[in-house]
Amino acid sequence: MRSNLQAEDKHITAPLTETPIMETVSSLAGLRAQIGSWQQAGHSIALVPTMGNLHDGHLSLLRRARECAERTVVSIFVNPIQFGKGEDYDKYPSTLAEDKNKLEKYGLDLLFTPDLGQLYPGGTDADTRVNVPELSNILCGKFRPGHFSGVATVVVKLLANAQPDVALFGEKDYQQLLVIKRMVRDLCLPVEIVGMPIVREADGLAMSSRNAYLAPAQRRQAPLIYHTLRAAADSLRQDGSDLEAIERDAMHGLEQAGFRPEYVSIRRSEDLGAPTPQDTRLSILAAAWLGPARLIDNVQVRLNPS
Ligand code: PAF
Repeated sequence: MRSNLQAEDKHITAPLTETPIMETVSSLAGLRAQIGSWQQAGHSIALVPTMGNLHDGHLSLLRRARECAERTVVSIFVNPIQFGKGEDYDKYPSTLAEDKNKLEKYGLDLLFTPDLGQLYPGGTDADTRVNVPELSNILCGKFRPGHFSGVATVVVKLLANAQPDVALFGEKDYQQLLVIKRMVRDLCLPVEIVGMPIVREADGLAMSSRNAYLAPAQRRQAPLIYHTLRAAADSLRQDGSDLEAIERDAMHGLEQAGFRPEYVSIRRSEDLGAPTPQDTRLSILAAAWLGPARLIDNVQVRLNPS
């Protein structure tokens, strides 16, 4: 619409709307060509990698991306190698038509929708993987072996081909965010990684595509994971001398409410290491099953220096 009007009336120089026109490409060659032309014109690029089924959490990344750079690119790709055997790869919600509608309304410059062959030309059985040690084997990594290597591998492919100045990720996947930041540092990649705050439903549940797996009664129960973390944060602020007791109480509360918690853990925000009494920036992270959905959440706690 905007381009037609502009073509008809050469006197209109200012855009009629702030919303850019969205192109879609599915090949790496198409992605590189489009981005290359923008780079030649001196434009900065922001990338928002996603697995689709877009919700307001994703759109908050896109909003920030548009503030950070002159051109915004969203990728939609459900990455098989970050799912373990028996996980939900086959049923992961695929809603490309709705996603395109949302993106078109919201505004971006380029949507990248590669297929498996584009990103895994040699298949996914014996291909090259990126492994970020230490951070990948704790917390979620303990319960999902290989998951973070799968994430790091696909993200490095996206960064290498889109060559963004900045890439944005949500803090709901806080461990993922740190894995990606560490990978970017260790591989000396020239990109800034920006983490964005969790976007929550009105009742506190962190937005996630996996919330769709919950039956109505489970959906009503699900915000308890956030309220449990907030209660743990209050205990931590009041008396942080026994972290294990706070973690135990939170696990117990979740179990009593019908969750199957994998962990509740208080960690140093910077690197997810065990906190020392001097640390003032802490994260309380949890993963728990509720029926068919594995929910993750975290809260950030700032303590006064002792
Ligand atoms: O957070 C996600 O949606 C995915 O893990 C990501 C970063 C797009 C990689 O597949």
